[in-house]
Amino acid sequence: MSHPSKHLLAIEGLEPPHIGDLLDLAESYALLNRSGKTQRDLLKGRTLINLFFEDSTRTRTSFELAGKRLGADVINMSVSTSSVNKGETLLDTASTLNAMQCDLLVIRHAQSGAPALLSQKVDAAVINAGDGTHEHPTQALLDALTIRRHKGRLEGLVVAICGDITHSRVARSNIHLLTTMGSRVRIVGPPTLIPADAHRLGVEVFTDMKKGLEGADVVMMLRLQRERMVGGLVPSAREFFRFYGLDAEKLAVAKPDSIVMHPGPMNRGVEIDSAIADHPTRSVIGEQVEMGVACRMAVLDILARRLPRNR
Ligand code: CP
Repeated sequence: MSHPSKHLLAIEGLEPPHIGDLLDLAESYALLNRSGKTQRDLLKGRTLINLFFEDSTRTRTSFELAGKRLGADVINMSVSTSSVNKGETLLDTASTLNAMQCDLLVIRHAQSGAPALLSQKVDAAVINAGDGTHEHPTQALLDALTIRRHKGRLEGLVVAICGDITHSRVARSNIHLLTTMGSRVRIVGPPTLIPADAHRLGVEVFTDMKKGLEGADVVMMLRLQRERMVGGLVPSAREFFRFYGLDAEKLAVAKPDSIVMHPGPMNRGVEIDSAIADHPTRSVIGEQVEMGVACRMAVLDILARRLPRNR
């Protein structure tokens, strides 16, 4: 079982064996979770702190569940009621948690690079739970596991990632992971939401939704991240849905057995039609959430193996 670092800060830099090992371990946790069993001795005596400076439903809850299923003591730090509100800096907050001998620190922050900065200042293994527009590595892992469960492989698949690519850390992590594992990645969206450096990412770029979806094995929809936009990059939600919202007509050009994904939270009627989001055979959105717990268990497991036994 190989992992190149004490931390998990990004998918970029991981090589196929690292990603393959994480996915294989996550698959075993997915089976364990479905069996109803736990493995509470694995992280016994370890402390996991969830430090979320941005809102989250799926990521924070699944890290909490993952930690508890492996036997860790899990603390969810509420940033809104912490001393951050009294002016304490990120680094001073991290030093404080470090002094409490935290083993695993999961952080989400609006600033790209915040988890990497923290990782240089604390003894704990740091896990990036989403930093600005940079990366969301565990989301890409759970997406890849979901795809692999449905398609049996990642290599050679055509994956269309659609919507607000510019502001999406999910898109960046998925692009790094899927291209590393041999998928053909297309990014699809209005020119205002395609990153300027798209040509360096090893993807094909489409501004016409139907052309981008043609023959795709996987259609991954993304939310408009209005909280990160500067200025009006999209005319209106109704206009966006007309050209870039996934409905039955647009999905019809993808492969008949293509799967539909969304990392959540969804804005129904903006980037995805409810009938597609809830489609009983094509939508795998619920399974993505399930795989999130398994992938986070795998990440905690692999990183904990590198921690000193007694801190
Ligand atoms: N996909 C995702 O990161 O969801 P949350 O913001 O709810 O954690």
